[in-house]
Amino acid sequence: MPEIEDVLSDLAAEMAARPDRGEVATYIPQLGKVDPRKFGIAVATVDGRIITAGDAEEPFSIQSVSKVFTLTLALGKVGDALWKRVGREPSGNSFNSIVQLEHERGIPRNPFINAGAIVVSDVLLAGHQPREAIGEILRFVQFLTDDDSVYIDQGVAASERETGFRNFALANYMRSFGNLHHPAELTLGVYFHHCAIAMSCRQLALAGRFLACGGRNPATGHSVISSERARRINALMLTCGHYDGSGDFAFHVGIPGKSGVGGGILGIIPGVASVAVWSPGLNANGNSHLGSVAMEKLARAMNWSIF
Ligand code: DON
Repeated sequence: MPEIEDVLSDLAAEMAARPDRGEVATYIPQLGKVDPRKFGIAVATVDGRIITAGDAEEPFSIQSVSKVFTLTLALGKVGDALWKRVGREPSGNSFNSIVQLEHERGIPRNPFINAGAIVVSDVLLAGHQPREAIGEILRFVQFLTDDDSVYIDQGVAASERETGFRNFALANYMRSFGNLHHPAELTLGVYFHHCAIAMSCRQLALAGRFLACGGRNPATGHSVISSERARRINALMLTCGHYDGSGDFAFHVGIPGKSGVGGGILGIIPGVASVAVWSPGLNANGNSHLGSVAMEKLARAMNWSIF
């Protein structure tokens, strides 16, 4: 088996040289300013090692990867009652699609498409002001990372709010079915801010490691969630974590993963490691192009597949 250090540094060199970098998301204007030549990767192993290459220390907008952490928090708050308001099936549609909501009574297919994550934000808002719910999410991610420097990029959050017409439509549509309990403005305040969390690959790999460790954070010894719940979150990442590209990611990479339009992907190899990769250019499904390529190459080189 090759050394992870060697595989990561070879991957970073190879990805830096590739001309096919995908397209940086521009529908959130602030994300359009990111340099498409960036590439970072980090692996956090269950036995406590952290190995990085490329731009792995540079914070980027984790966007939808944050939905893994809000889902974890919401399940901690309301448990299986969440599944009355959100499904657990892949949507086969783009991340911001509205079409299924009409026939499915305002119940989003899963917690990782925008509609589902907005309901999750609504759950986290219950009994709080948006500011408190946002603070709770940020503190949770800082706790997982064991690093207080994780922050919310207020410029990205404001940029999302200014251009978030689709998300307002999704939220209001779900409210008409009674599946949003707060005004769209308030729930989306929570949603836009957690999408705007900025982290480096190193921090993201550390934050996700509890999912590779049966729900436990090996650095602190804290049990974050039960091993059963960690398994279920991993199952949802595998089936729904890449939207209409989820089948393809499972086919090519073979591990649970969650992507974001900032170009980040968090991958989980249960019992072995978590991986965070960042390359801002996206493929047609809104998932990091070179991030997906690098994940596939890493999984192959290390023989990391759940299958
Ligand atoms: O709601 C949005 O459009 C973004 N805040 C998050 C989208 C996202 O990352 C979907 N990912 N591929």
